[in-house]
Amino acid sequence: MKDYLCPVVENRHISGRLYLLKLHAPELAKETRAGQFVMVKVSGSLEPLGRRAFAVADKEGESILIFYDLVGRGTLFMSELREGEVIQVLGPLGKGLFFYEGQKHLLLGGGVGLAGLTLLGKELRDIGKRVVFAYGGRSAEHLGMEFWLKEKGFEYLLYTEDGSKGRKGLITEVLKEFDSSWVVHACGPKGMLRALKNHKSGHRMYFSLESRMACGWGVCLGCVVRTQGGYRRVCYEGPVFPAEEVLF
Ligand SMILES: Cc1cc2nc3c(=O)[nH]c(=O)nc-3n(C[C@H](O)[C@H](O)[C@H](O)COP(=O)(O)OP(=O)(O)OC[C@H]3O[C@@H](n4cnc5c(N)ncnc54)[C@H](O)[C@@H]3O)c2cc1C
Ligand code: FES
Repeated sequence: MKDYLCPVVENRHISGRLYLLKLHAPELAKETRAGQFVMVKVSGSLEPLGRRAFAVADKEGESILIFYDLVGRGTLFMSELREGEVIQVLGPLGKGLFFYEGQKHLLLGGGVGLAGLTLLGKELRDIGKRVVFAYGGRSAEHLGMEFWLKEKGFEYLLYTEDGSKGRKGLITEVLKEFDSSWVVHACGPKGMLRALKNHKSGHRMYFSLESRMACGWGVCLGCVVRTQGGYRRVCYEGPVFPAEEVLF
């Protein structure tokens, strides 16, 4: 883990509230593994205070890609970054990462949560595993990362709650179509993860969790979640946990 100064290569709006930020970060691009994240200082000034956590969604040559939803003050600052501006990025962070056993892997991304699984999809495919993505959102404009799945040649299923794209319904319904020989990896809103866990479908399942973070490297205890083994820090023992261990 190191703090890097990273020039912005590209920062563009995709659709709805989704943006794509590409940063020149040769060492992060080399070292980051699927599941890991970075803490971004979104502006050069004191405002807003603190850093924001983002999954490294992809690596292209010497650059890393972050997909982010504009949700508050920090991401508003981020959306205003221009090409050539330099920002501080701490990473790679997270020690509890994904599991690669099993031949067939179903990756479930709820909204921008898909960004927590995209590198995993590439790594699994590179070692010869079968990978299918399921990507769900409220409506078509919330599925802005579809272009990435298409561009990278992945097999994928889309779900929208209002039926404006893909299948109408909740992404959790996809479990019915994949028997329990598939390993499931999921990242997204807490409600989605809770529903997956409650499904009791018999799949081996792993969750990449998000929680409010201040430090990102285990010292502030701001990000703890309750697990069967007691409280765990998402940023340090996680962000990936076996689903059965997480107590929502
Ligand atoms: C390990 C990790 C990886 C993440 N990866 C991504 C990613 O790849 N792309 C992405 O868009 N976001 C990701 N997030 C969430 C991201 O950190 C927050 O959306 C961001 O910090 C919001 O900053 P803000 O200042 O714009 O919003 P704030 O003003 O701080 O908050 C705006 C709203 O978002 C909610 N919120 C803020 N942070 C979180 C959080 N961590 N979890 C749930 N709700 C939150 C707040 O409760 C509030 O309702 C990740 C979070 C973690 C912990
Ligand atoms: S964010 Fe500080 S301990 Fe996890």
